Amino acid sequence: MSSMTPLFSELTLKRSRQFYSLNEQARRNMAEFEREYGKYLFVELDVEPIVPDDIAKFREWFDSTAVAVKKIKNDIAGGYGGEPIFASVDTYTTKNSIWESNVNTQLFHLFPELLQKLNQLPFYGFPLVRIWSSIRQVFPHRDEGSFFDFPNSFRSMLFDDNPSQTLFLFEDPAIPNCPREIRFLPSNAKTFAWNNLRVQHASFYRGFQKCLLILDNVELDLNRYANLLDRSIAKNGDSLFSSAKPISAFSKI
Ligand SMILES: [Fe+2]
Repeated sequence: MSSMTPLFSELTLKRSRQFYSLNEQARRNMAEFEREYGKYLFVELDVEPIVPDDIAKFREWFDSTAVAVKKIKNDIAGGYGGEPIFASVDTYTTKNSIWESNVNTQLFHLFPELLQKLNQLPFYGFPLVRIWSSIRQVFPHRDEGSFFDFPNSFRSMLFDDNPSQTLFLFEDPAIPNCPREIRFLPSNAKTFAWNNLRVQHASFYRGFQKCLLILDNVELDLNRYANLLDRSIAKNGDSLFSSAKPISAFSKI
């Protein structure tokens, strides 16, 4: 294909690294899973919302603990070298972290119910958790995360003071001049996932505080996730954003 955009090659490269790091059986399972669920761009998950029981207590803790963080490495999302965009509390850091870290290990001691609620999600082991509250507009981007083709960028809105939804996404195929249709997330969406291969996400900043729990490095039990997705799709069908495009509109593999 001679007219590949750099993004198309970048997505293909990142995706193939992840895909071919799986063993043969896992690749077959993944391919089958992607064929089934790749068309879903965004899904509200049918779980008890992963939010603290006592929001006032949580807000007090977050406000006294969070620190504005800067991006310290470049990645697919861009934005390196700019002003801080998020106030953050991290439960972990890694040596290759793209962002400054503000590690605090109190979260699950103070709010143990979050741990129980996280167990509803079909993960092996335990995900890496960060809490981010944007302090500026977040321009559209993909995360330097998973490029498997199904909704697996997991988020939970802990609270949101905005009078209307500020988080939106749009399908972003590597097709020149293809219209991008912005879709705001449902206003009351609490715990959800989007497809980081197919969509870009972004949010407006209108001076109100909102706080998102972000799950990184999740290792999925695909059988359990298929179950949860089927249930969620049956229940929250109205809020689904789905794609009519083949995966070849996003990646060569
Ligand atoms: Fe992001």
